Amino acid sequence: MKSINKFLFKALFAAISLLGYSQAVAATESSVDMEAVMRTMLVLTIIVILAVLWLAIVYSEKNDNEGDDFLRPVRLVAKYLVRLQPMEKEKDLLFHHEFDGIRELDNRIPPWFNFLFYGTIIWAVIYLMVFHVFDDGQIQHKEYLAEMNHAKVEKDYLIKTGAFINEETVKFVNDAASLSEGKDIYDKNCVSCHLADGGGLVGPNLADEYWIHGGGIKNVFKIIKDGVPAKGMIAWQSQLDSKKMQAVSSYVLSFQGTKPANPKAPEGPKWEESKTDSISVKKS
Ligand code: HEC
Repeated sequence: MKSINKFLFKALFAAISLLGYSQAVAATESSVDMEAVMRTMLVLTIIVILAVLWLAIVYSEKNDNEGDDFLRPVRLVAKYLVRLQPMEKEKDLLFHHEFDGIRELDNRIPPWFNFLFYGTIIWAVIYLMVFHVFDDGQIQHKEYLAEMNHAKVEKDYLIKTGAFINEETVKFVNDAASLSEGKDIYDKNCVSCHLADGGGLVGPNLADEYWIHGGGIKNVFKIIKDGVPAKGMIAWQSQLDSKKMQAVSSYVLSFQGTKPANPKAPEGPKWEESKTDSISVKKS
């Protein structure tokens, strides 16, 4: 067998293996983009079918001369597409005019050219139907609307997860859902240092009106987000998203006015309500 045929067999084998592999991947990983997998499988299937057809044509020769005719399918197609007249017929094809010894042959239009020409017409009809009659395609305006819609969904999602919440925009939220979410987070992460009632242990008392870093939702949010690593207060932004930090900040502020069982002595200056809207500038 000629080496080129061996190569083709190997390529075919590789394509079939790849096909099997992509199916296996699609079956095991539910998170893969199924459309992309289907497209790949379609392309691979077409390659395999073409290769099998190719081999069938090559080996359909009665006396298989060891793959000498490997390019036979290409030659057949090329011959059909060009449809040149044999040299002997040239005499009949000559036009009766002549310029400076240059003469012209009356060849018919080659089929490949006609295919191209009619192909564009058929394509135009399909395009017209899809885009303008059945209104199925994404014409510019529809594409724009789809993108806007997509952006809105993304924005809604970002709002939902609190991506736009930072120390400037954070709000004190005291709806039951937010406060109970805040309590869950607090009970899980903060009790060891601040105690369940906010009385303070390693960390300062969160129930009094005295704040080391300033009171009010913005300051509390900022200190929870950035932490005070030198003093043992973690920067929670790596573990909690903004929405969660807003919830736990609000929960912390809900301790205000309560009486913890073992309150730690006040630390920092007394926070005045009028300042609630500003971020305290830390004096070093
Ligand atoms: C490992 C112990 C520890 C844990 C856990 C901890 N903190 Fe702190 N926290 C501290 C310390 C210590 C300080 C005081 C920092 C300083 O002195 O500047 C502090 C300060 C604070 C402050 C500022 C208080 C003020 O007076 O300005 C707030 C608000 C706060 N923590 C909230 C939380 C929240 C909410 C959590 C849970 C998500 C938490 N902390 C978890 C140790 C901790």
